Amino acid sequence: MALLDVKNLNVRFPTEDGVVHAVRDVSFSIDHGEVLGVVGESGSGKSVTNMAIMGLLPKTTRIDGSILYKGDELVGRSQQPRRSSGAARSA
Ligand SMILES: Nc1ncnc2c1ncn2[C@@H]1O[C@H](COP(=O)(O)OP(=O)(O)OP(=O)(O)O)[C@@H](O)[C@H]1O
Ligand SMILES: [Mg+2]
Repeated sequence: MALLDVKNLNVRFPTEDGVVHAVRDVSFSIDHGEVLGVVGESGSGKSVTNMAIMGLLPKTTRIDGSILYKGDELVGRSQQPRRSSGAARSA
């Protein structure tokens, strides 16, 4: 089992000007001892991907897909710093 397994992650922000679809269908997995570098142009969703994993996005954010951390599903849980699961220290 991977340490972190992200599948088909989508992140959408409702705004006054409409929905911002910041992350589209992102999938990756990281094992113990692995390091993953993420490269992309400004605004492509690198920070938002990591904030979703760490539970640091606004409560109104719509997050779909799956984020398994040590086998636990984080999607659907409230966006709060993941101190108890330790995920906040992984990214
Ligand atoms: N709270 C928010 N509400 C609405 N849109 C947002 C919010 N946070 C981020 N975005 C938008 O999501 C998109 C992805 O932003 P993100 O910060 O993840 O990009 P990035 O790849 O980290 O860019 P950079 O290389 O400049 O750090 C951008 O269009 C950004 O404006
Ligand atoms: Mg960034």
